[in-house]
Amino acid sequence: MTNSIADTAGMNLHLTSGKAQLHILKDITFDIKPGEVVAVVGPSGSGKTSLLMVMAGLERATGGKVGIAGTVLDQLNEDQLAIVRRKNIGILFQNFHLIPSMTALENVALALEIAADDTPIADIKAQAAAALKSVGLGARLDHLPSALSGGEQQRVGLARAIVGQPKLLLADEPTGNLDQETAATAIDLLFSHARADKTAMLLITHDMALARRADRVMRMDHGTLQEITMVPS
Ligand SMILES: Nc1ncnc2c1ncn2[C@@H]1O[C@H](COP(=O)(O)OP(=O)(O)OP(=O)(O)O)[C@@H](O)[C@H]1O
Ligand SMILES: [Mg+2]
Repeated sequence: MTNSIADTAGMNLHLTSGKAQLHILKDITFDIKPGEVVAVVGPSGSGKTSLLMVMAGLERATGGKVGIAGTVLDQLNEDQLAIVRRKNIGILFQNFHLIPSMTALENVALALEIAADDTPIADIKAQAAAALKSVGLGARLDHLPSALSGGEQQRVGLARAIVGQPKLLLADEPTGNLDQETAATAIDLLFSHARADKTAMLLITHDMALARRADRVMRMDHGTLQEITMVPS
């Protein structure tokens, strides 16, 4: 029995591009405890998004171990991976990834419908509405993404990521497409949710000020991940 919400040991990821085999993630070992916020920084192309994809079970490691909440992912089939994901993980993308033809409420509700137990649709909608209210969008439930500002779309993305009360949030430069002020508001919201619900978070960011708010910081460099110490500002 492990006390980690996410852990890897000697994890590797190889991808093929044409005839070339690329070694994207190299011998990665770390663990994240429940409620812990860990930032990942590092240059473009170093492997940060690839790490997030492996932790989400959306990309399969080609070697080593990956565990989520005590379940080892290596031997699971796609259906089993999907179950581990929806029981434990919320994902927040840089480009929001909202479905354009669905309202804010429908986009958030969809995350719960995919989790498909036999929850009545009225309850699903109530939970989705509550999540949207908690990110300040109670008055935007019926808006399509195209009728929302970038910051509002990201807040819909946040509501969708947290509505299932995940134990682990995976966030990939969640404010990369927002202006500074909007980004600061979105980040405050993200942190207040994570801290209040004791949700662990793997937060990819280029923003060192943001990384400082994490409990720990790791740096990705050419596919290698190392914990770093932040110099106090
Ligand atoms: N599907 C793929 N096939 C082959 N190579 C890939 C694939 N996806 C990513 N890569 C390569 O893997 C490396 C790591 O990419 P990744 O997207 O993880 O970087 P990143 O650290 O997230 O960069 P950024 O900060 O720009 O988002 C890059 O060299 C990229 O070209
Ligand atoms: Mg990336």
